[in-house]
Amino acid sequence: MEYKTCVLTTWRQFVLIYFIGVKAAEPSGDGGGWSLDSDYRLQDEGLCNIDVLDRSSLSHQQFIERYAYSRPVILRGLTDNTRFRSLCSRSSLLEEYGELRVRLSTANTYSYRKVDVPLQEYVDVLLRPQSADVLGSETLYFFGDNNFTEWQRLFDQYKSPPYVLPRTSGAYSFGIAGPGTGVPFHWHGPGFSEVIYGRKRWFLYPPDKGPHFHPNRTTLSWVTEIYPQLPEEEAPLECTISPGEVLYFPDRWWHATLNLDTSVFISTFLG
Ligand SMILES: *[C@@H]1O[C@H](CO)[C@@H](O)[C@H](O)[C@H]1NC(C)=O
Ligand SMILES: *[C@@H]1O[C@H](CO)[C@@H](O)[C@H](O)[C@H]1NC(C)=O
Repeated sequence: MEYKTCVLTTWRQFVLIYFIGVKAAEPSGDGGGWSLDSDYRLQDEGLCNIDVLDRSSLSHQQFIERYAYSRPVILRGLTDNTRFRSLCSRSSLLEEYGELRVRLSTANTYSYRKVDVPLQEYVDVLLRPQSADVLGSETLYFFGDNNFTEWQRLFDQYKSPPYVLPRTSGAYSFGIAGPGTGVPFHWHGPGFSEVIYGRKRWFLYPPDKGPHFHPNRTTLSWVTEIYPQLPEEEAPLECTISPGEVLYFPDRWWHATLNLDTSVFISTFLG
C-alpha cells in the first residue's frame, strides 16, 4: 500500500492532503473492515486543547464538579466496548442488519431531508468520502434516527459511559459515515460521543460564543474556508477522538464534527 509521510506544520495543510488524495496507511490495529484499501483518510494535525484524562485520574464526583456543567473533557478507559466493537465490524453488521432500512439525514445544521435505504445499499453505494464541493444539505449520511426495536440486540451490548448526570437518562444515536463527513455546528443537551471504529475530530464553542458558519455547508468546507481565517480569540476547542476514548460535551455547547476515517460511532444524549 502506498504511504506518503507528510510533515504537517499547520492544521490547514491537513486538509490539502485530503484534496490531493493521498492514500494513507491503515491505522494500526483492527479496522473492522471499514477502512478499505481505496479509502481516503484525513491526516490529523494533532492539536488538542481539550483535557484528556484517564478514568482512573478523574472520579465521577470530580467529573461532575470540574466538567459536567462547564467544559468538555475526553476520558480514556471509561468503558470497555470490545464486544460491541466486534459486533460493529463491517461483515457482522451487514450480515445481521444489512437488509434493514436505515434513515439517512442531510448533513446540515437543521437536517431537513430524510431518506430510507437498506443498510447494505448505504454501505455499498453511499458510504464514501465527502466531496469538497457538495453542500451539506445535499449530502446524506447515517447518524441517529435509529429503530431501537430492530437494532435492540446490538445496542444492548453497548456499555454507555457510567459518568451520568443527576436526573438524566441516556438516549443513543448510532451512525456510520465516510471520511470528510460530519455534522456542521449545532447544539443540544449534554452527552457523550464515542467512536467504535475510525477517528472523529471535534470542534466546540461555549454557549455564549457562537461560531461563524453557514448551516447548509459541510464541516469540511468550514475547516478549509472559515477555520484558517479565524483570529486567535475565535479559535475553537478541538481534539480528535479514537476508539477507547469518550468525549463529553456540556449542555448547549456548539459543536461540529469531522470524521477522519470511515467511522462507526455512537452518542449518548443525556436528557
Ligand atoms: C421499527 O421497526 C419495527 C419492526 O420492523 C416497525 O414495526 C416500526 O414501525 C419501526 N419504527 C419506526 C419508528 O420506524
Ligand atoms: C438550506 O437548505 C434548505 C434545504 O435545501 C433550504 O430550505 C434552506 O433555505 C437553506 N438555508 C439557507 C440559509 O441557505
